[in-house]
Amino acid sequence: MTKPKNDTFLRALLRQPTPYTPVWIMRQAGRYLPEYNQTRARAGSFLDLCKNPDFATEVTLQPLARFALDAAIVFSDILTIPDAMGLGLYFAEGEGPKFERPLREEWEIRNLFVPDPDKHLRYVLDAVSQIRRALADEVPLIGFSGSPFTLACYMIEGGASADFRRVKTMLYQRPELLHHVLDINCRTIIAYLNAQIEAGAQAVMIFDTWGGALADAAYREFSLNYMQRIVAGLKREHGGAIVPSIVFTKGGGLWLEDIAAIGCDAVGLDWTINIGAARRRVGGRVALQGNLDPAVLFTTPEIIRQHAQQILGAFGHGGGHVFNLGHGVSQFTSPENVAALVDAVHELSRAYH
Ligand code: CP3
Repeated sequence: MTKPKNDTFLRALLRQPTPYTPVWIMRQAGRYLPEYNQTRARAGSFLDLCKNPDFATEVTLQPLARFALDAAIVFSDILTIPDAMGLGLYFAEGEGPKFERPLREEWEIRNLFVPDPDKHLRYVLDAVSQIRRALADEVPLIGFSGSPFTLACYMIEGGASADFRRVKTMLYQRPELLHHVLDINCRTIIAYLNAQIEAGAQAVMIFDTWGGALADAAYREFSLNYMQRIVAGLKREHGGAIVPSIVFTKGGGLWLEDIAAIGCDAVGLDWTINIGAARRRVGGRVALQGNLDPAVLFTTPEIIRQHAQQILGAFGHGGGHVFNLGHGVSQFTSPENVAALVDAVHELSRAYH
C-alpha cells in the first residue's frame, strides 16, 4: 500500500517532524454540515447512513471537500459493537442512542458473545475499504472503537445516563459480572480494530467517553487495564506502515501519565487541561491530540484564531501534536468557523516547526 500524499497526521502521531501541525475534528462529518443533513434525509436515518457503505463513504468525504483537514475518520458509531451483539441499537429522535435489549439480567450477561467482525460488522469493514479507495491516498483514514467501559455503560444503562447508576452499582456490588462484560468487549474490540486495519484504516482511536466518570482506582481497574490489553493486541503494522493508536479518555487529565504508559502512540486530551503542562507530564513518551473547547467554535473567526494560537503556543515547538477539539463538534457550529479553525492551525503552527 502507498503512503498518503499528506502524511502529517501519521508523522505527528509518531512524533516525527512535520512542516505544520495537522488537524482533524472529532465528529467532522455531522449535523453542522447541511450536506450531511441532506444525505441523512436521503438515507432515512443515522443508522441507515452507517449501515450503507455508499452513504458512509459520501458523508466521510464531505468535511474533506470543504476544509483542508489532515485526516479522514470512517463514518460510523461506537455503538455498532453492542448492536452486533444483538442488543438492538436505535436512536429515538432528540434522545440519543438507546438499546431495545439492554443487559439487565445476569443470564443476559452470561449469554453475551464476541461477534465476528467479518460477519456481524461487515458493513463497517466494507465502508473502510470503500473510503480508502475514494480517498485515493490523499490523507490517512482513522478507524475507531469505543472503549470496553464506555460501551458497557451504554449496554448496561440502555442509553445515555446522567449518573451511571446501574453500571456503577454493578461495578461495586458485582465486579466479576462487569469484568465479564469488559472482557467480552475487549476481545471484540481487538478483533474489530484489527479488521478495520486490514480493511485499510491507517490509525486507530479508542473513545473512552465515560472513563472520566470513574473513581481513581475504578478507572484503572475497569477502564485503563482493558485499553492496555487492546493496545497490546493491535496489529502494529499493515502494508509496510506503522498503524498508530490514540487513546482518548474524556476527563482523563488526572491519569495522563498512566494513560501515556499503556503503549499507545498518542493520548487525546479534552479541553480542561493545559496542553503545555500535559506535554511536560508525558515527556517524550507519546504524542498529544487536542484540545480546543468545542464551544469556542460558536464565536467568531478572530476569537477562534486567538484560541488556536493559545493552544499551539502552549504546546510549543516541535512535533508530536495533532490539533483537534477536546470533544466532538456541536451540531450548532457554523461550517465557516470550522474553516477558520483549520486555516488558523495550518497558518499559525508553521512558526513552531
Ligand atoms: O468523528 C467522526 O466524524 C466519526 C463519526 C463518529 C460518530 N460517533 C458519528 C455520529 C464517531 C467517532 C462517534 C463516536 C461516538 N458515538 C461516541 C464517542 C465520542 C463522543 O462523542 O464522546 C459516542 C459516545 C457515541 C454514541 C452516540 N452516537 C451519541 C452520544 C450520539 C449523539 C446522539 C444525538 O442525538 O446527539 C450518536 C449519534 C451520532 N454519531 C451522530 C453522528 C454524526 C449524530 C447522528 C445524527 O445524524 O442524528
